[in-house]
Amino acid sequence: MSLPIVTVTRRLPRAVEERLALLFEARLSPDDRALGAEGLARALAESDAVVSTLGDPLTADVLGRTPRRARVIAQFGVGYDNIDVAAAAALGITVTNTPGVLTEDTADAAMLLLLAAARRASEGARELREGRWTGWRPTHNLGVRVSGKTLGVIGFGRIGRAVATRARLGFGMTVIAWSRSLSPAQGAKTGVTVVDDLDELLAQSDFVSLHVPSTAETRHLIDARRLSRMRPGAILINTARGDVVDEAALIAALRDGRLAAAGLDVYEREPSIPADLLALPNAVLLPHIGSATIEARTAMGLLAVDNLVAFFEGRPVPNRVA
Ligand code: DGY
Repeated sequence: MSLPIVTVTRRLPRAVEERLALLFEARLSPDDRALGAEGLARALAESDAVVSTLGDPLTADVLGRTPRRARVIAQFGVGYDNIDVAAAAALGITVTNTPGVLTEDTADAAMLLLLAAARRASEGARELREGRWTGWRPTHNLGVRVSGKTLGVIGFGRIGRAVATRARLGFGMTVIAWSRSLSPAQGAKTGVTVVDDLDELLAQSDFVSLHVPSTAETRHLIDARRLSRMRPGAILINTARGDVVDEAALIAALRDGRLAAAGLDVYEREPSIPADLLALPNAVLLPHIGSATIEARTAMGLLAVDNLVAFFEGRPVPNRVA
């Protein structure tokens, strides 16, 4: 019996590629280059399944092209805003994602940004590497203390909760949270105060960390008005998706000093970053590495493979989103 043809859009950790090659007729990415809309349409026409990632525009147009052979898309990632899941569902294409296995590493990245932004780590590191450091002095590179401050967590899914735990238990912070699905009683169980008004969370927080998916509802959730509700000198952390924040409004708030700093792992138009953002010393910028550990990326890939195996064996697909 012939094996299902699976096209993989990007290079994946070796253990994942080996497993794909063992179980399927795997068409692995030769050069780790994005396929683009035309390449994706070809992959959908020639394969039974596609393993996609967040840079693959699986729009209604691409999904709807004919002829199409693929019946399943296994997204490598917890976010799947690159896929028009409603269009996929209407076409009978199953879509899966890889939640859970990247939670701890992404929460670590949020804390990395929070600490780096609070302590002005990238400014100091740059100064040193550029040979501008003149030695220790009492007023040099002063940041703000993290311990004892209030962290507002927006979105209280797995990653939001893991960040809250780190902040409370590791750094002695008070945590408040805003989430559609969290009741005050559930919040209390995790040592977190649930705030039902987002503006109130912003007004009470010294640090704000974003953990909502990118949807039509969350696009520019943090816009100029909401940024103006944040405490003067507050710090914004985003490891979720770039379009949750109005980047232009954030740049203005960082530039005029209303916000002390931001720690960003994600951007509105990745991989393009506005020159004005790159120029800001109080923006700590990472290249979307929230889940970039060998452990998380391997586990994500193996989970994507498990989803495909379940699909082709006709079993219920564990991480089905459409
Ligand atoms: C995801 O999985 O959605 C991340 O953004 C990549 O780790």
